[in-house]
Amino acid sequence: MTDRVEEVDRSVFRSALASFPSGVTIVTTRGEAGTLHGFTASSFASLSLDPPLVLVCLDRRADCFPVFMAAERFVVNVVTPAQAELAMRFATKGADKFAHVGFESDEERHPSLPDAAAVLHCELHQVVPGGDHVILIGRVHEARTGGGEPVTWYRGGFLRLGERAA
Ligand SMILES: Cc1cc2nc3c(=O)[nH]c(=O)nc-3n(C[C@H](O)[C@H](O)[C@H](O)COP(=O)(O)O)c2cc1C
Repeated sequence: MTDRVEEVDRSVFRSALASFPSGVTIVTTRGEAGTLHGFTASSFASLSLDPPLVLVCLDRRADCFPVFMAAERFVVNVVTPAQAELAMRFATKGADKFAHVGFESDEERHPSLPDAAAVLHCELHQVVPGGDHVILIGRVHEARTGGGEPVTWYRGGFLRLGERAA
């Protein structure tokens, strides 16, 4: 018997993860200097009903990582098929992410998407380390639905709900 856990083959690991379909979110916040930041995340999940908690995992190598670490609040925008292109922009390092997009501002001036399938306004409740990512746990203080169906992400591509993968 060995006390060492065998390393999983990385490409098999990635492929296994890609077999799990998810929704897509754009997670946004406002930095101390008033600058807007955000990233696309499929790692969003509900965590607790009472208190109302959600989570999203953020790569430590993300340019926006320090801003989210210092943030008091963030917003989770659940992406619709019409926002798939925008989600790719928010997944692109160095992109001008907030240009020409009609974001709304909440009372703390954090950006949210009016046409998102759902929007959750969160207080940063806890940050839990998780390997090369951290788990951002948000306490939801406001939520709304609307704007249509969410899009799904499966094997590296977007699918509408009910659409068959190629
Ligand atoms: C569909 C999709 C889902 C993603 N999910 C995550 C995620 O859950 N967590 C994460 O840290 N990065 C995720 N990424 C990658 C980030 O969006 C991307 O690296 C982003 O540019 C990081 O922010 P930065 O531009 O500030 O570095 C995802 C990308 C795509 C296309």
